[in-house]
Amino acid sequence: MDEIPGVSFFQNSIENIDEIPEINELKDKFNLVISDIAPNITGINAVDTENIYKLNFLTLKAAHRYTEKTNGKFIIKTFQNSMFKGLRKEMEKLFNIVQTFKPAASKKQSAEIYLYGAKKK
Ligand SMILES: C[S@@+](CC[C@H](N)C(=O)[O-])C[C@H]1O[C@@H](n2cnc3c(N)ncnc32)[C@H](O)[C@@H]1O
Repeated sequence: MDEIPGVSFFQNSIENIDEIPEINELKDKFNLVISDIAPNITGINAVDTENIYKLNFLTLKAAHRYTEKTNGKFIIKTFQNSMFKGLRKEMEKLFNIVQTFKPAASKKQSAEIYLYGAKKK
């Protein structure tokens, strides 16, 4: 991948984020975390729903750790499915303000949906 000035690129699983020294050193400085992480789709609805939830949950926990000291914000792309409400509830435990939104750029027929989280100062 070509270098982009001012951008650091790390290829790793979200599960290992705390083990990346360059990221860990900046732990208290994140103002915003944005996630477009999604698992490979199997086509089996129950499996995909569970995999999406697990990955989103790990990402939510990481985003919370990395924005805790800065009152930072978190945006995550996820999918409308039977575990979506549960994910939103988990997010509400960690962020005071949680909003669901579907941007105009997102196709109506797509199940993708976004959650925004922020903390009151
Ligand atoms: C919808 S794609 C994101 C595409 C990206 N926004 C782009 O423009 O290239 C979902 C991405 O989540 C990544 N992913 C899946 N599991 C992951 C994990 N455990 N940790 C980090 N990334 C993961 C996949 O490798 C894939 O690149």
